[in-house]
Amino acid sequence: MKTILDIPDLKDKKILLRVDFDVPVDKQGIIIDSFRVKQQKETIDLLVSRGAKVFMVAHSNYIISFELIVEQLQDLLGYTIKFIHDIQTVSKRQINEGLALLENIRVHEGEKKNDTNLGQLLSAGFDYYINNAFAECHRNYVSVSAVTKFLPSYAGLLIEKETQQLQKVIDAPPEGKIIIIGGAKASTKIPVIKNLINKAEAVIVGGVIANDILKSKGEDVGNAIVDNNLEELFSGLDLNDPRIIMPDDFNLFENRMPDIGPLSVKKFSEIINQASMIVWNGPVGIFEDERFTAGTKGIAEAVAGSRSFKVLGGGDTISAVEKFGLLDRFDFVSTGGGAMLAFLAGDKLPGLEALGYYK
Ligand code: 3PG
Repeated sequence: MKTILDIPDLKDKKILLRVDFDVPVDKQGIIIDSFRVKQQKETIDLLVSRGAKVFMVAHSNYIISFELIVEQLQDLLGYTIKFIHDIQTVSKRQINEGLALLENIRVHEGEKKNDTNLGQLLSAGFDYYINNAFAECHRNYVSVSAVTKFLPSYAGLLIEKETQQLQKVIDAPPEGKIIIIGGAKASTKIPVIKNLINKAEAVIVGGVIANDILKSKGEDVGNAIVDNNLEELFSGLDLNDPRIIMPDDFNLFENRMPDIGPLSVKKFSEIINQASMIVWNGPVGIFEDERFTAGTKGIAEAVAGSRSFKVLGGGDTISAVEKFGLLDRFDFVSTGGGAMLAFLAGDKLPGLEALGYYK
């Protein structure tokens, strides 16, 4: 995989830079957790210091328009950022100083379809494409995939670091390796569990995925959030596999299961204490609501206090652990949630494949 450091001369080069600004934002429009933004700074600094003209493209699941947070991004990164509403505008080719940021790329329907025309439109006028959004590399979308057909493409410093660090987890033997998977996005995570289960000693499950498993086993989950296509999602996975560790109790609320209960925290903590390596993605409850924080906090404390090699990933998980003041207790914090899990499971990530990582 070629990296940014392989580009011979960046002076005055026009760079299309895929960054990751998919950070949680509260109702007032304030960024709740800026970890992913800060992780972009090293690559941006390098490009700017070498005289490149940088046009950034990114997505957000939390807000529709980046206009809402562009000033906060400026403060976090230490640059003036010119906000570009319209991808059609030629202004992206006229950036002479500072940085530019295009509107949330997901406003375009073609992004998720990996539409070649959108890739061509996005790439027109640039000299190079650099992907620094590790957390989006498991998606076969235009801004990490199709665009590479039109420009010489390189990995940013963050992608290089993430792949190197996570390779250490892949190389470690399954014995003593515990994976904790919670949160939502079950359709991304369940296929990964099918692969990861053989690469770890146990997979601890919480969040929507636990609800899904219970429902599939015919248990009453009340009005808890569950996915629709459970049969298809779980096909090929033995839900009674003893390596899948389920919660034993929940903090029930209005016939829902917004958090795991104290018995589950205790059971999970005992397993965590025995582990030599822990990988965690996804909160085990709706931690943003104080009433349902205890489960995720209990797990965070157990992991932080264990003697294992600790890896954490994903926007919401980082936000939760930062809120508890425990982020610095982890050995590696990956910006990727689904992407980290898929990489660890040995899946070929389309965004990395497009950069020549697997050749
Ligand atoms: C994430 O939060 O995991 C990344 O930003 C990817 O978002 P996506 O799952 O919507 O592609």
